[in-house]
Amino acid sequence: MRETAARPEDRERNAARLLRASARHSHDPLTEIDWDQHVDPDHFALPQHRVALYGTPLWESLTPRQRAQLSVHQLASATAAGIWFELVLMEGLIRHVYESDLTTRHAQYALTEVADECRHSTMFARYITATGYPSARPTAKAHRRGKFHFLLNDTAMTFAGAVFVEEFTDAMQREMVRDESLQPLAREVARIHVIEEARHIGYAKPELERLWAGMGAPRRAVFRRGLLVMARLAVAELVHPRVYALAGLDVAEARRAAAANPHWQQARTDWARKAMVFFADLGIVDHRTAPRWRRAGLLE
Ligand SMILES: [Fe+2]
Ligand SMILES: [Fe+2]
Repeated sequence: MRETAARPEDRERNAARLLRASARHSHDPLTEIDWDQHVDPDHFALPQHRVALYGTPLWESLTPRQRAQLSVHQLASATAAGIWFELVLMEGLIRHVYESDLTTRHAQYALTEVADECRHSTMFARYITATGYPSARPTAKAHRRGKFHFLLNDTAMTFAGAVFVEEFTDAMQREMVRDESLQPLAREVARIHVIEEARHIGYAKPELERLWAGMGAPRRAVFRRGLLVMARLAVAELVHPRVYALAGLDVAEARRAAAANPHWQQARTDWARKAMVFFADLGIVDHRTAPRWRRAGLLE
């Protein structure tokens, strides 16, 4: 387990590096993406084997075009979950800045990240609209929980949540960027997001490491459990029940099929891997909590 907290000068050096990278490589998706491009209904938005129902009897019952549409709606749902998470994260970052001194590079970078997330959430909403998916809202449960995030007032949890969700999304979107057979619009959104999120991960990880090193054993025990609750909630948001309803499927049956689907299980474990390695390295996932992460399907 690493116990070394970053020194203030290292924290400033990292933030200065991230600010320079942001100045060089920031994107304006509203002008850089052609939002009027034709969206081919036969194009998949996600690789087929990453669609929650892939390989199940329900999948076999769908036509190729219906399967492609299901992948587009699943991505739109995951994108809506992304907006939900980014809004919660932005709130946490703003509070982090409120408690900091804006003459530090560290605080300045937090605001730069908020600016990135503002553009991302708007880009995601435009993508959802372009697909015809009817809403950018998460489930009622996630909406309620996100609303009370501020009550936690826990910067370490904000950064741990950022590491989990950003690494998870990064893994999913890198697969999309690599796969040239996928819908071009989905890949363009993914490409811009991957570039800018690499910086956010580089900001959240040392900060989480620093805050974790300062926590005592009782607080760590609560934190370990809290993070698992957060991660499970975020992953459950990937496929909103309306995705199945839009495909004309029985929602309860489709959810059961997805939950029992080994391909879908594998997708979530693969996408969570980098975050889980980081958490295990810090000791946030330890021998006592690892079985729970395994049961949640997020750890092999
Ligand atoms: Fe983002
Ligand atoms: Fe981010």
